[in-house]
Amino acid sequence: MLILGIETSCDDTSAAVVEDGCRIISNVVSSQDDIHNRYGGIVPELASRRHMEMIVPVVREAMDRAGAGPGDISAVAVTHGPGLIGSLLVGVCFAKSLAFVHDLPLVAVNHLEGHIYSVFLEAAPEFPFIALVVSGGHTSIYIVKGFGMYTEVARTRDDAAGEAYDKVSKLLGSGYPGGPVIDKMARRGNPEAIAFPRAKLKKGRDFSFSGLKTAVLNYIRKHPESRKEDIAAGFQASVVEVLTDRVIEMAGLYGVNNITLSGGVSANSSLRRRMTERAAAKGMRVYLPSPHLCTDNAAMIAAAGYRCFIEGRFAGPALNPKACLPLGSGPRPD
Ligand code: KG4
Ligand code: ZN
Repeated sequence: MLILGIETSCDDTSAAVVEDGCRIISNVVSSQDDIHNRYGGIVPELASRRHMEMIVPVVREAMDRAGAGPGDISAVAVTHGPGLIGSLLVGVCFAKSLAFVHDLPLVAVNHLEGHIYSVFLEAAPEFPFIALVVSGGHTSIYIVKGFGMYTEVARTRDDAAGEAYDKVSKLLGSGYPGGPVIDKMARRGNPEAIAFPRAKLKKGRDFSFSGLKTAVLNYIRKHPESRKEDIAAGFQASVVEVLTDRVIEMAGLYGVNNITLSGGVSANSSLRRRMTERAAAKGMRVYLPSPHLCTDNAAMIAAAGYRCFIEGRFAGPALNPKACLPLGSGPRPD
């Protein structure tokens, strides 16, 4: 069964054809980094405009590469939130029209659920597992007991980890997105040269990254002569330690041995290495998507859409995008 996935929640226009929720037939991602780079962050209006230009060629390319026509597709799956409203609107309107014209079922996918399902494109982790979704817009830990069964057990109180990477990159005079730049720069730095704070909130299990960002800003102001590589390495050491500590803690607390990482920041080389080492020491298993499936892509939307399709969770022509769309935000377990 082939599902066409469409993703336009942020600054990547993507379309993919995925078979049975796990085999990628085609996955086309058109990045907008060239547009937003000079502003050091995403400009929402420019993002929507580029999506409008790219949606038709990107979907066409995904279908062509798959050698598929509308008659070969079982459903159209589209991200309907959370994300930038103007960006989401382009994908949702396009998917609705396509489904209507070709009389295909429409499936609405939560972007965060898509990130969790990116892991299933290359592996089949057993339930229950702990899922860290760490991207430019989100930093949350979920307990996943089954398909569609998510309980959020930790989240950021302020900035997402990826947002902190992007801001620190901007402070260091480097481009957008900042994650890959800092990741590379940090390899040439000493992570112990500068001790940036590790934000551990006294109450609860949540994350906070805005204090770290301010600490980096203050450090740069006080020590303009310091090596950028050491700042990048010190900042990254703090982010990686906080994320790995909390994931391992949650896995232990809930007695769960499988861990999945997803979202753009999970492409980070240091986070991947540390999480794997720490989990192995505890006899836990970590599932890491390939780096190109960590960042936004439509294959993960088609993978999650397949599950919705199987469960009969269909959307209609009244589907509207939602900028804010929490996943499993019910009461937390004790
Ligand atoms: O998942 P994603 O593509 O979009 C959102 O849903 O937000 O994540 C993008 C974020 C950006 O903040 C980017 O800087 C970060 O992921 N990122 C990384 C790396 N690659 C991308 N952060 C750290 N290390 C990386 N290698
Ligand atoms: Zn994302």
